[in-house]
Parts: sequence; structure tokens; C-alpha cells
Amino acid sequence: MVSADPAAGILVTSRPLDEYCGLFGLTRRALCAALAAGPLLDCPGGAAALVAEVRHLGGRAVAVDPEYARMARMEARARAGRDAMAAHARAAPEISTAALSGRPEAYLRSWDRARELFAADVTDHPEDYVAAALPRLPFRGGTFGLTLSSYLLFAYPEVFGPAEQLAGLLELVRVTAPGGEVRVYPLHDSAGRRSPHLDRVRRSLGHHRVGSSLLRLPGPGGRPRTVLVLKRAAR
Ligand SMILES: C[S@@+](CC[C@H](N)C(=O)[O-])C[C@H]1O[C@@H](n2cnc3c(N)ncnc32)[C@H](O)[C@@H]1O
Repeated sequence: MVSADPAAGILVTSRPLDEYCGLFGLTRRALCAALAAGPLLDCPGGAAALVAEVRHLGGRAVAVDPEYARMARMEARARAGRDAMAAHARAAPEISTAALSGRPEAYLRSWDRARELFAADVTDHPEDYVAAALPRLPFRGGTFGLTLSSYLLFAYPEVFGPAEQLAGLLELVRVTAPGGEVRVYPLHDSAGRRSPHLDRVRRSLGHHRVGSSLLRLPGPGGRPRTVLVLKRAAR
């Protein structure tokens, strides 16, 4: 079926906690330490295992995704997301093998495990999976000690232009504790093109008293990875 809704092209993916740690430059220890200031927010959560795995580590995380309003179709959408990644790995083996640490099959199995953890955790702890969409989240200001946002605001420029990116980032900062931080990855689209709006969005964040920095990390295959880190400026 052809859809006129560009948001319909957004994949539902199912990453495990260790992949999140790698994407955002966090160790498990650093992630747990950040939770002293409040729970972790995963927005968008997709079918990730982050909430379940943080729970196993003794912490609390909350995931937000509009698809949680249609939980019955989550499994099918997450499976489709996994299949799309598998097709991508087959179509561009040289790129995807580097990006997937040289082990596409093991990588896809990690997504399968994460999807299963997610499904079991949603059943046991539905309160930690909140159906909502950026730029409006149903939480009081300063609720979360650490907020992670992967593969949304800059990954789908056909859905999120600079105004939507700014509004989404400001909302993530609003719900994060003043001493906490927001980390966002990637800052490029699916073709690897860096967002042309990033510098403008960062300047606008500054006008809203939100400090931003770029954290450069070594990525798989020697390719660097850049994470946007946001903090409220001190008053
Ligand atoms: C590619 S997945 C990313 C999931 C997860 N963060 C990860 O890295 O695997 C993108 C998710 O964004 C969700 N989404 C779409 N529009 C959204 C919005 N306005 N606010 C929050 N999430 C949204 C989709 O339902 C989808 O599950």
C-alpha cells in the first residue's frame, strides 16, 4: 500500500542496551550513574530492550513512542524493521559489514533478542511504555536524569524539518533534570548526509538557554560517530 504520510516510512527498530551504549558513548556504569538524578528516558523507544535491560541492572527507564498506542502491531512492525536492516546489509555488504562490526548475522540476532525482551517487558510493565509523540511529552519538567534519542529527529529529514527538530529537542531538554543531559544520535540521514540544519538548530537552542556540544566517538570500521549533547544552561 502506498502511503502519503511521510511518518509511515519511519522504521520501528529493536536495539539492545549495549548497542545504545555504543551509539551514545556510554558505559553501563556511566548509564547507571546518570540514573541517580532520575530515570532514563528513551524517546523514541521503538521495540528496543533498553527499558527491560536497565530494569535488570536495577534502574528504571521509560520509553516513549507513538506506536505504543497500537501495541498489537508492534511485533510486526519491529520484525519489518529488522528485515529492512537485513536487506540493507545484503544490498551494501561493504558498508553494512563495517557498520555492523563485520558480523551482520550476530548483529541481527542481537535485534531479535532485544525484540523478545521488549515484548516480554511490555507485558509485565506496560506503565513504562508511554504512547506519545514529540514535540509533546506527558511528563513534568525535569523528570529524567538522562534522555537518549536515537534514529529519529535527524534521521528522517522528510518528516522532521529544522522547526520540528528544534521543538523536539527543546521538549527532550524540558523533561530532563537541570543537571542531566540529552544525547541525540545520529545527526545524519539514512544516506549518511549530515543534517544541513544542525548548526542553525544549535544556535536556536542557545537562544533558548540550552547548551549544545558535539561528542566525537570512534565508530565501527574506523568511521567517526558524532553525538549531540544538550544541557540546560545554568541560570
Ligand atoms: C528507527 S526507530 C528508533 C527506535 C530506537 N530509538 C532505536 O534506536 O532503535 C524510530 C521510532 O520513532 C518513532 N516515532 C515516530 N514519530 C515519532 C515522534 N514524533 N515522537 C517520538 N517517536 C516517534 C517510531 O514509531 C519508531 O518506533
